[in-house]
Amino acid sequence: MGGHLSTLEENTMLFEEMRLTCTDFTEDVVEKLKAKMPLALQKAKGLDFIPYTVRDGAWQPGPCDGICWWTNGFWPGEMWEMYRLTGEESYRQEAERAENMLDAAFVEYDSLHHDVGFMWLISSGADFRMTGNDQSRKRTVLAANLLAGRFNPLGFIRAWNGDCVGWAIIDCMMNLNLLYWASDHTGDPRFRKIAMAHADTAMRHFVREDGSCNHIVIFDPETLDVKEIPAGQGYAAGSSWSRGQSWALYGFALSFLHTSKQEYLDTAKKVAQYFISQVKDDWIPRCDFRQPAGDDLKDACAGAVAACGLLELSKITEGKDAQAFFDAALSILKALDAHCTDWSNDYPAILTRCTGSYHGNDHNIAMTYADFFLIEAVLKLRGDTFLFW
Ligand code: GLY
Repeated sequence: MGGHLSTLEENTMLFEEMRLTCTDFTEDVVEKLKAKMPLALQKAKGLDFIPYTVRDGAWQPGPCDGICWWTNGFWPGEMWEMYRLTGEESYRQEAERAENMLDAAFVEYDSLHHDVGFMWLISSGADFRMTGNDQSRKRTVLAANLLAGRFNPLGFIRAWNGDCVGWAIIDCMMNLNLLYWASDHTGDPRFRKIAMAHADTAMRHFVREDGSCNHIVIFDPETLDVKEIPAGQGYAAGSSWSRGQSWALYGFALSFLHTSKQEYLDTAKKVAQYFISQVKDDWIPRCDFRQPAGDDLKDACAGAVAACGLLELSKITEGKDAQAFFDAALSILKALDAHCTDWSNDYPAILTRCTGSYHGNDHNIAMTYADFFLIEAVLKLRGDTFLFW
């Protein structure tokens, strides 16, 4: 075999070798998931909303936008992940129940936004790709058309509604995957071209020289001139909101996977190296990498997202890079498991030290999307190659 392996085969073998070094950790977390998630599911049964966070031991909905709340795809996504992990029908049924609930969001169109990829690619999109359900296919294509409809031809997908006409945000890198899927599925390149135009703009205007990123950039929607770069969910303008860094890290890695455009991989690696340099003391991201020294506010969610991105990077890079990305992902996951989780079975969520935004009140909370990315990372460590994105 020596000398005849393609780079892809060599990378795959190296990833296999690396992931097999930590099967004790992986299987320990899998056992904890299998013990915990039936309770999470049972507490969601019969609710007329989709779980977002936890208060007094009970699931709570998102704080606004009703069924259009941007994280509402993550709960069905978690259920599909558990279905992949266990094959148990109860998870599949709950995923389908939540996917059906999401149909009301299409009718509440005014409250929909740039995050329709988060809402449908991992719910109906996962359903279609796993089961072939045609209704799920239609939902996912419809969501892709809604996202494409937000494109400003100067080169960005606008965020939010109302007077945010020229706003774009780094989080949207993850929503591009819905568009890549739509082009692959329909054979129509428009969706992919929109996604790449947005990713190119994000590379130019969001990612800084040192690998840190802006959260929000406000463009003049007539000219693409930059008007303002506000703090967004981070500490201050010019700071470095860790979850935004993780959206960029994973988002650019995925854009490379879907397009093979080398600059996306180079950008993902640059953001990843910056991210690692900021977390390597205890491997739990601060909410903002530039928040005041001594302020220990954390965001476990940023860690879970980054771990997924780092694992994907470790599959598509070589040698020392691959090893460094894999080791960082594992260190983050071990730190989250040891210091940021509630594995008890009277609390339905897993990760508890998540932060919505630096200046908000939503500090040290549970968030279903954090748990989604934690489970996704575990599936990757298990060798499951299904890509939710
Ligand atoms: N704005 C999406 C997030 O909180 O990550």
